[in-house]
Amino acid sequence: MNKNRKRGCRPDSTQPNYPWRKYLRTNFFREAVLPLLLVDGIPIKSFMMLAIETVGKEITTIEGLRNTPIQRAFIEHFAFQCVYCTPGFIMNAYALTEQHPDADDSTIQEWLESNICRCTSYQEIEEAVKSVLMEKRKNE
Ligand code: FES
Repeated sequence: MNKNRKRGCRPDSTQPNYPWRKYLRTNFFREAVLPLLLVDGIPIKSFMMLAIETVGKEITTIEGLRNTPIQRAFIEHFAFQCVYCTPGFIMNAYALTEQHPDADDSTIQEWLESNICRCTSYQEIEEAVKSVLMEKRKNE
């Protein structure tokens, strides 16, 4: 188990109707911007799900992806956006590489379309994703 994952990060009974974003900000990351969570490996916008809905599910935040191949690939390919967008793209890209290791270009583009911003680095993000997928295929 990756010790950086926020397992055990569960809503308590006094805060059953908190959206995840508010719950995490209140209890764990006061200054954090938490646009995306992985709930059992599926990317979910943190403001779209109540904390109570995730009871019993595995939650991964961006901190849980520290030193993963996708984080390193973003650094190596200079695939950066702003502080709001970069974590979301890394989370989404991680889920993509885990769930679709055989993803082709159109699958990658379709998957990344859920991150709305197109300020910069979109090509670099695709290259980062492709490099992780190629590495996974080599290791199979
Ligand atoms: S890079 Fe974040 S809004 Fe465009």
